[in-house]
Amino acid sequence: RIPEPGVVVIFGASGDLTKRKLLPALFHLEQAGLLPEQLRIVGVARRDLGDGFAKDMKSGILEFGGVKEGADKLDDFMGKVSYHAMNFDDDGGYQKLKALLDKYDTEFGTKGNRLFYLAVAPEYFSDIIHRLGEQGMAHPEKGKVRVIIEKPFGHDLASARELNDDVNKVFHEDQTFRIDHYLGKETVQNVLVFRFANGIFEPIWNRNYVDHVQITAAESIGIEGRGPFYEKAGALRDVLQNHMMELLSFVCMEPPVSFDAEAVRHEKVKVWRAIKPIRPENTVRGQYGPGTISGKQVKGYREEERVDAKSQTETFAAVKLEIENWRWAGVPFYLRAGKRLQKRATEITVQFKQPPMLLFDRVSQGPCAEIQPNLITMRIQPDEGISLRFGAKVPNPDMTVCPVIMDFNYANAFGSNSANGYERLLLDAMLGDATLFAHRDGVEATWELYTPVLNNWAATEVKDFPNYESGSWGPKAAHDLLGRDGRQWHKI
Ligand code: BG6
Repeated sequence: RIPEPGVVVIFGASGDLTKRKLLPALFHLEQAGLLPEQLRIVGVARRDLGDGFAKDMKSGILEFGGVKEGADKLDDFMGKVSYHAMNFDDDGGYQKLKALLDKYDTEFGTKGNRLFYLAVAPEYFSDIIHRLGEQGMAHPEKGKVRVIIEKPFGHDLASARELNDDVNKVFHEDQTFRIDHYLGKETVQNVLVFRFANGIFEPIWNRNYVDHVQITAAESIGIEGRGPFYEKAGALRDVLQNHMMELLSFVCMEPPVSFDAEAVRHEKVKVWRAIKPIRPENTVRGQYGPGTISGKQVKGYREEERVDAKSQTETFAAVKLEIENWRWAGVPFYLRAGKRLQKRATEITVQFKQPPMLLFDRVSQGPCAEIQPNLITMRIQPDEGISLRFGAKVPNPDMTVCPVIMDFNYANAFGSNSANGYERLLLDAMLGDATLFAHRDGVEATWELYTPVLNNWAATEVKDFPNYESGSWGPKAAHDLLGRDGRQWHKI
């Protein structure tokens, strides 16, 4: 699967994403021989960076792409990268950009195909799209044009709808690729393979056998200088409404009839629409205070640069979700996401029901004394893999049971992988395959679920922020959320 010749145009190219993720991903694709020979990459941003752009991108590929100086194909690849400075609201800038792209068609045989990547702040999305339309760049006479839009896709239901309308005025839905980089991760796609390529799990993947599911997206980093963005976003908008809901849909969806965009999207949306409105008592928000992470003292959220000293923004969010459908009725799903937690770990754990009676003794102390239900844990990152916990007999004259782990580890099985998730998604977008992208309906369904929660939070001041220490596992209320159901978060 090699895409047709074309130009990738990245708006907002001077930002971190381009250097840390997009260019390294494009180079990984080049190394793997998955890009067409006639490819050009144009970075677009306001500042006049000139040659500095290509140099900066090269350093990004080396630093964040795990690539060594002098790597095969690197210089050739860098020769395909150029930069175009313009203001996003300047029609003249679009005309010059169009002329440049047309020139590439003649000089390099890029055949009128364009992939516009909007890696800009969300307030520019609509305007750029509108101007691309006005300048005739969305539907040229020859070639295929597609647009990738980075998150956040709206900040509530109304703004997401408005943005969808603006996008669809210019681009058809099949030209539109709303990216969620979690869907590009191998381990996330593997959730579907695990469920639907193995005969043994599907029969037990339902309310008859599953007690509950936990999904954690924990980060030990703070907001990394992104104060102004994060102040407006918060953990729910930043991670829970998008990345975690994608994970949830893969865990819960019915088998699609095929792995094409329409069939997969349909099943995902059915899951999101079956979630009951979230009651306020099933939500938790937290904000980190100072603390210690890996032996290093770190400051609290309110002391971070360009953050309000009395900020009400949550850096941790947890919810309990109930899916009202045939497969999942009665099975709670607990989701939590947070910054400055004890360690970085994204995991999905499916806990199964206990056997109807326990014939054997449990040990009263030590590691064997833990609760013993079967668990399937999918480690999305780091230490990618899947483990199954089951009870085994302790070798002694008694019949005592101890939980043991059967483990599959990606790196051991397949070797380590420096891909960052964007490789697959960029390639799919160039090929026009939207299976791993968010669709308009899906984005609106998740916002519909979370907008009342956000409105409720906005209307009630939290008096006890900061309410968790950096380096902990979040606020006490997050533990109580499970505790009151007689459950606890699994140790990570
Ligand atoms: C981004 C969020 O979408 O995802 C960041 O804006 C977060 O705040 C990041 O750190 C997490 O992605 P990953 O791939 O590091 O888990």
